[in-house]
Amino acid sequence: MRVTPANLGAKAHAEAHSDAQVPAQAGAGRAADAAGAGAGTPATAVTPARAELGGGGDGGLGDLSKQSISIRTPPPGPLTRAHIEHQTAFVSPSLIYCYPLVVKRAAGCMVEDLDGNVYLDAQAGVATASTGHCHPAVAAAIGAQASNLIHICGTDFYYPAYGAVCERLAELAERLLPKPTAAAPAGAKGPGGWQTFLTNSGTEAVEASLKLAREHTRRTAIVAFRGGFHGRSYGALSLTASKAKYRKHFGPFLPGVYHGEWGNLESVERDLFHHLVAPDDVAAIVVEPVLGEGGYLLPPPDFLPGLRRICDAHGILLVFDEVQSGMGRTGAMFAAEHFGVAPDVVLLAKGLASGMPLGAMMARAAFMTWPPGSHGSTCAGNPVCCAAALATLDLLEGGGLVANSAARGDSLRRKLTARLGPAAGVTDVRGVGLMVGVELDTHARATAVAELCFRRGLLVLECGQKAIRLSPPLIVTEEQVGTMVDVFSTACMDVYRDQTTTAHPGHAGQPGHAGRVQLP
Ligand SMILES: Cc1ncc(COP(=O)(O)O)c(C=O)c1O
Repeated sequence: MRVTPANLGAKAHAEAHSDAQVPAQAGAGRAADAAGAGAGTPATAVTPARAELGGGGDGGLGDLSKQSISIRTPPPGPLTRAHIEHQTAFVSPSLIYCYPLVVKRAAGCMVEDLDGNVYLDAQAGVATASTGHCHPAVAAAIGAQASNLIHICGTDFYYPAYGAVCERLAELAERLLPKPTAAAPAGAKGPGGWQTFLTNSGTEAVEASLKLAREHTRRTAIVAFRGGFHGRSYGALSLTASKAKYRKHFGPFLPGVYHGEWGNLESVERDLFHHLVAPDDVAAIVVEPVLGEGGYLLPPPDFLPGLRRICDAHGILLVFDEVQSGMGRTGAMFAAEHFGVAPDVVLLAKGLASGMPLGAMMARAAFMTWPPGSHGSTCAGNPVCCAAALATLDLLEGGGLVANSAARGDSLRRKLTARLGPAAGVTDVRGVGLMVGVELDTHARATAVAELCFRRGLLVLECGQKAIRLSPPLIVTEEQVGTMVDVFSTACMDVYRDQTTTAHPGHAGQPGHAGRVQLP
């Protein structure tokens, strides 16, 4: 539901257990601490930055990253409510606002609101704060770059950080991505044969891939999938098919886009290729290897290899949209690593720069045939974002965060599976790494659980039709995983009990409130 001034008041009274303190958890939120289990970040990368910048962790109010969940004022508290009421006149009403949270600061896995409530973040700014909020090494890199060069335009001028990010990504892709079974593309150049166009966002990485695929193949059709999310500008939105609300009233869309059913190979080979589009007209198949916004789903074993086979047979580019699943989120640097399938093009954003706006469209050099001037962007690959990305990449690998994502993700799924089942309204716990999805039996239940978690100090987001995603920062500790499981499981059980035993005459029939939990 969307938070509006009109329903803020009702929300304020919804949680009577106002002082929900969850003791003895949260722990260290910093990569250097998390990396105790892994390779370890050099202490010098952390300590001076914290002392100099003072942001994120301290701010004069104690180290937020080490705090526990603390709900002092039933959210939304008075300052939060006042802020939302004030800003609503000025801000686009298209924004969603899952629940009334106004963030004052954040550090590690912890987020503090305007009223001093402290939340444990199991959504990481929609799977983006990969190294945790305001990681000192990332903040230091941003600060250092910002005092040297903020902008010059990477489309028209060289600067070291742009090339450095592209080189790091090429090295990672060459080392980690599955190798193509077909012969290596002729004319590959650069380290590992990967080249990168940097963007401001995931959406722009998708847009770039559509242009590259059309330019390279001289074909026009694009295949995407029902269930997929690829962004909201016209090209990307033409591919997005996770929820009709994203498309409502915005058509007509890009011509030549055909949707198969995500996970169903036959929907491409039989439905699309027999009835709607000849494979030789298709420039690219764009697919999320692990479905994100559409429900945190893993692909059936034959799906991605089958798409590779189709692309090889017909000269189609296979584009993996790893905007959400990339950069360690699945416990591997690239989600493709789990499936042994080599993409031709990889799209990244979100976790790439720990929350700074940076995306990447990487392709094997043999496909990067578009000439100078065919694509560019004023601010994309901005030096400050690139500095954040380089620090992030150091932490993901050298700091052990990819390994931590795999280990904590396994633990999170195991513990949730042990605690949750039909008696809590839960029908499935799934995912890979720290991309964990919990399917509820109804949409109303999923909404109620997300909202109750918020009121009890745990930030989660919905996905799919009736699922909740847990995608904490990759620095999350085992202790924090335990807290997430406790708060989340209890919320599921309380909502299930409440919805199955109590009628809510106060909310009955109100659109957007159906099934919302009503606590005493
Ligand atoms: C798989 C995928 N692709 C593309 C996008 C769009 O990225 P952005 O919001 O950075 O434009 C998203 C955003 O959630 C995504 O999950």
